[in-house]
Amino acid sequence: GTTPVRITVNGAVHDVEGAALDAPLLYVLRNDLELNGPKYGCGLGECGACTVLVDGVAARSCVVPLGHVLERDITTLEGLCRGDRPGPVQQAFIDEQAAQCGYCLNGMVMTVEALLRRDPCPSDETLRRELHYNLCRCGTHLEILCAARLAAR
Ligand code: FES
Repeated sequence: GTTPVRITVNGAVHDVEGAALDAPLLYVLRNDLELNGPKYGCGLGECGACTVLVDGVAARSCVVPLGHVLERDITTLEGLCRGDRPGPVQQAFIDEQAAQCGYCLNGMVMTVEALLRRDPCPSDETLRRELHYNLCRCGTHLEILCAARLAAR
């Protein structure tokens, strides 16, 4: 058999059995760890639905090989919660009712979270630029932008 692959997700160490080092991180998070916050959209690094934080920086987990994150801190949407309550960015998205179908929201929330960690008071231009490459097929970008502004306050 193969040796398990050790990764740290949301502060917990996991030994993943039978995972290939070139497997997309997204698959391991969803299928092995049952963390379904990150979503599968395009699988090509283009839509942002699968976004997680790697050492606090937004990364598209569908194109990050498992082998690249062995010594890194991975944070998923689940890891932003405070106990059983939403974290501040999540709460802002709830308050603004930013979801239509909600499929893109993981990526939106994680992208805003990563931005606010390095720039706590981003300009509107920065918010728009950061969210530009996160696709929302429902067209709720205005509500999402309101939520991002609320989170930044
Ligand atoms: Fe990863 Fe689209 S599913 S960027």
